[in-house]
Amino acid sequence: MKRFFALAALAAGMTFAGAGVTFAQELVNEIGGVTIEGNSKVNMFKPDKERDIIPRDYQKQPPLIPHSIKGYEITQNFNKCMDCHSKERAEETGATKVAKSHYLDREDKKLVNISPRRYFCMQCHVPQFDAKPLVENTYKPAKK
Ligand code: HEC
Ligand code: HEC
Repeated sequence: MKRFFALAALAAGMTFAGAGVTFAQELVNEIGGVTIEGNSKVNMFKPDKERDIIPRDYQKQPPLIPHSIKGYEITQNFNKCMDCHSKERAEETGATKVAKSHYLDREDKKLVNISPRRYFCMQCHVPQFDAKPLVENTYKPAKK
């Protein structure tokens, strides 16, 4: 009897959890007037291949990545981006040297290697893509 009760309670709990999921789906079913399903069909993360560099919108903006990053891995021991972008390799590869700020620790001390604060490039840099804003945005860069 006790066991039956436990099972029934478990089943009830599962139904309840299931209802929670349905509820969440009902809450958010569109972004910017486009359904979630519609949004997932827009390939937002596919970089534009033949495209000029999109200019930066403000000072200190991390520049967008103007090339494909497919297969460029960043692991504990190896950073594919630095293979081209480090100050030692930049000239040979034609890549822009990472900014000087990328070699500073948080006390502004210069380091020999890329600062751990800048190790995960994709935290700040993303491939450029002319995606339509999901919500209206009236931001305009300040005049220089
Ligand atoms: C095989 C060499 C190579 C690798 C690997 C590489 N890049 Fe690049 N990157 C370049 C070159 C060359 C440019 C110069 C623009 C161009 O010609 O596309 C560039 C440009 C950039 C720029 C634009 C700089 C500016 O001033 O506008 C950013 C940001 C960037 N890369 C980030 C990355 C990140 C992040 C990674 C790793 C995920 C990476 N790159 C991996 C070669 C590379
Ligand atoms: C915490 C954010 C952050 C991370 C992480 C980061 N960057 Fe940047 N990056 C920036 C910002 C902000 C700028 C522009 C302002 C500046 O000079 O610091 C920049 C500038 C650059 C530039 C242009 C330099 C120039 O002279 O115009 C390149 C290239 C670049 N980063 C590559 C990288 C690569 C490669 C990595 C990973 C090894 C990386 N960044 C990690 C924020 C970041």
